[in-house]
Amino acid sequence: MNARMIPKCNSLHLGILPLTVLALVFFGVWNLRRVPAGMFGHVLTVALSPCSRKDVLVLTPWLAPIIWEGTFNIDILNEQFRLRNTTIGLTVFAIKKYVVFLKLFLETAEQHFMVGHKVTYYVFTDRPADVPLVPLGTGRKLVVLTVRNYTRWQDVSMHRMEMISHFSERRFLHEVDYLVCADVDMKFSDHVGVEILSALFGTLHPGFYSSSREAFTYERRPQSQAYIPRDEGDFYYAGGFFGGSVLEVHHLTKACHEAMVQDKANGIEAVWHDESHLNKYLLYHKPTKVLSPEYVWDQKMGWPSIMKKLRYVAVPKNHQAIRNR
Ligand SMILES: *[C@@H]1O[C@H](CO)[C@@H](O)[C@H](O)[C@H]1NC(C)=O
Ligand SMILES: *[C@@H]1O[C@H](CO)[C@@H](O)[C@H](O)[C@H]1NC(C)=O
Repeated sequence: MNARMIPKCNSLHLGILPLTVLALVFFGVWNLRRVPAGMFGHVLTVALSPCSRKDVLVLTPWLAPIIWEGTFNIDILNEQFRLRNTTIGLTVFAIKKYVVFLKLFLETAEQHFMVGHKVTYYVFTDRPADVPLVPLGTGRKLVVLTVRNYTRWQDVSMHRMEMISHFSERRFLHEVDYLVCADVDMKFSDHVGVEILSALFGTLHPGFYSSSREAFTYERRPQSQAYIPRDEGDFYYAGGFFGGSVLEVHHLTKACHEAMVQDKANGIEAVWHDESHLNKYLLYHKPTKVLSPEYVWDQKMGWPSIMKKLRYVAVPKNHQAIRNR
């Protein structure tokens, strides 16, 4: 899709600025005179935006943007990140039979993920020979990182934190600016671009974005390092899509891994494994952007009207190869 066709949101159209100022003056909005210039522009932008979202929460209580379609101008953001020569690493784990998901994951990422930017796919697998050859666009490459497997899927899932942390230090820090950590049994179905990039971001879990704190499936046993008391918690974040600067992702994955090692030593495993630890970490290290469930969706949940786009969606796991895992 041509970027020019995407509706422009929250953009200040300079051509109509003088007219707008005149209109505001006419309607007696005199108090705006004292607002500093930069702020003034912003006030106008919000007031005039044809498509700012009123139906969803767009800002966390700690003033981090919540990214929904209609809250950003992708042209401005693309230009900003291109000027900084931004390189994005996308980590994905294809362990054991999960290699079957790689082809669709990579093909759809080529169509929708960070198009026009420099991207390195980091594919962690125990079956390097089974990584499919998917044609990649210019500025995009794929690195296969051979890692060990584990018998239990819970261990496969949890050890992702350890491996991302390990490779962040060893190579990601020197190779990319941002890391996006994604589940493989998913596909990209619409634009996922630089609007998600920030020092630290998490994604609202599709099952809990409209739930109250008490309903969140946080770890509730105080013996676990992932424990969150009933009267705490902002959001329930999905384990399958998070990221940030390499340094922040290194801190996050290292902390989560160490917490899981501690739990294991204490003979306890958090209820939702790495996702429980991610939620604990993001409660005490607030993300600087929060992604709406557009960025992790499962079509089993239908398509509510607030979801203008479904960008990254679950692939049904009825594949024969996976069923008997
Ligand atoms: C952008 O990054 C590439 C390496 O990925 C480098 O060769 C190039 O010089 C960089 N350009 C600028 C303007 O920094
Ligand atoms: C786990 O990895 C080993 C090699 O590291 C391999 O021989 C074995 O087949 C793998 N297990 C499964 C179930 O794929």
